[in-house]
Amino acid sequence: MHDFEARAAELLDAGLFDYFAGGAGDEMTLRDNVASWQRLALAPRVLAGVAERDSSVTVLGRRRAHPFFVAPMAYQRGAHVEAEIGSARAAAATGSTYVLSSQTTTDPAEVAAAMGDADRWLQLYVFSDRAVTHDLVQAARDGGYEALLITVDFPVGGRRERDERSGYVVEHPTYVQLSRGPTTPAERHAMHDPSLTWDDVAAIGEASGLPVVLKGILRPDDAERAVDAGAAGIVVSNHGGRQLDTVLSGMDALGPVVDAVAGRVDVLVDGGIRRGWDAAKALALGADAVLVGRPVLWGLACEGEPGARAVLQQLVGELDNTLALLGCPRAADLDTSFVTRRS
Ligand SMILES: Cc1cc2nc3c(=O)[nH]c(=O)nc-3n(C[C@H](O)[C@H](O)[C@H](O)COP(=O)(O)O)c2cc1C
Repeated sequence: MHDFEARAAELLDAGLFDYFAGGAGDEMTLRDNVASWQRLALAPRVLAGVAERDSSVTVLGRRRAHPFFVAPMAYQRGAHVEAEIGSARAAAATGSTYVLSSQTTTDPAEVAAAMGDADRWLQLYVFSDRAVTHDLVQAARDGGYEALLITVDFPVGGRRERDERSGYVVEHPTYVQLSRGPTTPAERHAMHDPSLTWDDVAAIGEASGLPVVLKGILRPDDAERAVDAGAAGIVVSNHGGRQLDTVLSGMDALGPVVDAVAGRVDVLVDGGIRRGWDAAKALALGADAVLVGRPVLWGLACEGEPGARAVLQQLVGELDNTLALLGCPRAADLDTSFVTRRS
């Protein structure tokens, strides 16, 4: 996948690169996120008539050209001066759904204006200061964001040892803290509300009037509760390995969650998706779409919007090529017969 990560490592301040690249603890989950997709082998079907191919998927009742979403990522101004505008425009140009982080360094209204009518969701953290969270919900409604992606795996911050070592401080104020100066990881993590429960999330979702997708679910019983709480979708995710080390990968968690949900809501997955064929494997296991995080950030860091766009274009092209070579011309028809666990 290009050489964007290596170039970003040279371009960015070391502490910032480590903040973007790093994970919690010994980074076992961070590594396993990528390795887990490699544990699955593809089982191609031949002579399937693949001249016409269709990568489209349907999520929240809306047809999308392909299954790639840009994952919400904080502090993108640190990566490139174009910040969230650059990654959002790249998403719009490639038909990818864009998810804007709660810790955006660009006003959600400006991101919306830059995207025209392209698909966008807003990721919501439920902060202890509920006024901040309500302001974000209002910004989502005002900016034509289609859905709220409420992240539920961040009651407290993970132990990110690279950040502890570097003492990295985020220089760029975010939309939700514009009046403040640089913040340390501890200050940023202290914004989160560890007392949050299912009732809070259900109430915030209902009051928002927007469809709610819950991000950070890894257990089938939590997936059931998400459905009961009124969620329209679930993102199976371990937060890019940044929260609790040694938790299972999205790939390993996906099948049981898909079974528990049984088609009642949409299921997305993220963590370690680096290639078009990884996305095909996710769809084969029952996901409706995938989120891609760091690769987009590396493209943005190196070249701004064109870099992020190149990453997304490569993924879309690889998925199309995978559908042809796998003998499954429609992404929506991928099923478990196309994957097998390596022995
Ligand atoms: C630098 C960085 C910042 C992130 N910020 C957020 C965030 O603000 N909200 C959120 O829900 N997830 C956040 N995440 C997690 C991503 O949305 C996503 O779950 C993860 O990066 C996917 O894994 P991947 O990077 O291996 O593709 C962040 C991830 C990274 C790498």
